[in-house]
Order: sequence, then structure tokens, then C-alpha cells
Amino acid sequence: MLSRREFLAAGAALLAAPTVWSQSSKRRTRLVQTATDRFDLVAGSGSRFRILQLTDTHFGTAEERNRLKDARTERLIRKLVEEHEPDFLFHTGDFINNDRPNPEFGALRFMNSLGVPWSLAFGNHDHPNGKPGQKSLEEFHASLGEAAHMGYAEQDGRRDYCFRIDLRAPNGRAFASLFVFNTGDPQSGMKVNESQTRWFLAQMEADKAAGVRTPVYVMQHIPMIQYHEVYEKGLAVGRRGETVCFELDRGEIFRHYADSGRVRAVLCGHDHVNDYLGALQSVNLVYGRCSGFSGYGDWERGARILDLDPRTGRARTKVVLAKNAKEKPEWSLTLQESELAWPSPAQKV
Ligand SMILES: [Fe+2]
Repeated sequence: MLSRREFLAAGAALLAAPTVWSQSSKRRTRLVQTATDRFDLVAGSGSRFRILQLTDTHFGTAEERNRLKDARTERLIRKLVEEHEPDFLFHTGDFINNDRPNPEFGALRFMNSLGVPWSLAFGNHDHPNGKPGQKSLEEFHASLGEAAHMGYAEQDGRRDYCFRIDLRAPNGRAFASLFVFNTGDPQSGMKVNESQTRWFLAQMEADKAAGVRTPVYVMQHIPMIQYHEVYEKGLAVGRRGETVCFELDRGEIFRHYADSGRVRAVLCGHDHVNDYLGALQSVNLVYGRCSGFSGYGDWERGARILDLDPRTGRARTKVVLAKNAKEKPEWSLTLQESELAWPSPAQKV
């Protein structure tokens, strides 16, 4: 078995044997790397698989008032993890303000101390922009420690951060997959780019050939233009507090998500005061709840729970806040649980 250091050195080479990446002592979830762009996440129990989505923590600005805010964010996340006992943590980006001078990276240690396997889709603020003390994306990537990462598709000389995590029941049967894209790169228009799209389509083709039909949950920082559309059409539940910042996305990747018949939901971040969900062409478009006190925004910080039932295929989601948080009633619609509709019969395991 390769050590993590050896694995990092191995670069893009495929692994000869799966590597146990991390595991949760409490929920007994195991994260295993099976290829450079692929992980297995094996559930410890068959009854429910809980993902806690964190987003937009904006850790690491080297100023005293931000350090106090970051400490508050850490306390919140630790409490939410203790209370809700997730099997997996997924951070949908703007994890660390790596675009500020001399950012601090203590949040990596914090995330790795929670005792729960985790992963990250980089956001725009995670990308360096030439100021002193910043980590290159490669350095950042290599210092993620316990997080599922290392997923690069190499096509046309590009190395794009995208990978998948296949969720498996305790008996080994896959019941869902997370597809992860770095959409924070300004050079790629802050959207799922062409190279990542080719990777997605190749994964779909390979799955089809193998008879795999499990639902896919896409994790990306930047919303697509369809997040704007679903709200404008009155199909969303929740609050829109700002214009949807879909950057240069013009809907290209959504067509592939919808055409695949596999993408059950997209979970994003980026817009701190947008928190809603709604479905277009059977794809549920879901905002995470901003988790960090160091970012802009005027409402309670929290996280989003995604509960998957490996036996029935049901998927439910809701936002969770600190126990004593008092949300304004008109902003609290997403605190109620929503079922993520799915037109095809769920694959039972
Ligand atoms: Fe953000």
C-alpha cells in the first residue's frame, strides 16, 4: 500500500491497489481511493448515509477580527458535526481565502481533526492570484491531508480538478456517486469547462457500458445559469437574497447533466445569501447554506444535510443551524426537509 506521501509523488499514475484514505471512528465510514480520479466511500451502516455540506467558510484572512470569526465558524461546524453525526463532509468551496496576502491554512488542521472523511470542490477564493504567501493550487491540493482529492483529468495538456466518489452500502453495492468539479478557476470562466465536460461524458459512457445507473450528485462551487431560471419560473423553495452569480456559465453543462438521466441534484455555494432549491428537467438545483462568519451576508450561518437511504434510494435535504439560532421566519423555508424528486425508480441495494 502506498503511503499518502508516496501517492502524492506518484502523480497521475493509476494505483495498483486501493488505498484507504481516511475513516470515521464513529460512523465507520471508509474512504478508499481506487484511481486518480475515483474514490469509494463505504457506508458503516445500511440505514442512512448523511452528507453535511459546508460552503463559503472563507477561512484564513490574516487579520485579528477574521481570526475571531474563523474561530466562531470552527465552533459552529464542530457543533453541527457532533449533533448531526454525518458520514461525510463536503465543502463546496471558498474554503480558504487563498486570494488574500499571506493567508493562513489552519483550517486544514481543523477539518482533519473532525474525525469524519471529507472532500472539497475549490471555489474562486481558493485560487491564488499572485499575492505573497499564497499556496499554488498544486501546493494547496497536496496539503489537503485527509480530504478526498487528487482528481485530475488530463486532456489536451490540461489538468483539471474533477473526480468522483462512489457511495457504497456496507455490502459494497454502489447506490450513488458524487461528481466534483473545480469551477473556481477564473481562467476557465468559473464554470465546468470543456475538458471537465469531456471527462463527465466519458464517465457516463463508461458507466453505461458497465450497466451503472446510480444517481449522481454534482458538487461545484459556482451555480449554473439554471439556478437563475428555476427561481424566475417560481419553481424554487427558499430565499433569493442576491443576483445569481453564474459567472460565464451559459447552460452548456446543464444540458449534459439533464441528458444523462443520472444527475439527481447539483449542490453549489458561492452566493452567500441565496438559499433555495428547485428542479428543472428532473435535476434538483440546490444551494448550500453559507457556513462561514468571515464571508459577506446577513443571516444565520449553517450547513445543509443530504440524507441518502441506500436501501430505498430516497434523498432528503434540509438546512441546519446552531441549536440556539433564531432565523427570520421568511428565510427559514429551507430548514424544513425537502424530498429530492427522482423520476426513475431508485436502484435498490
Ligand atoms: Fe464565497
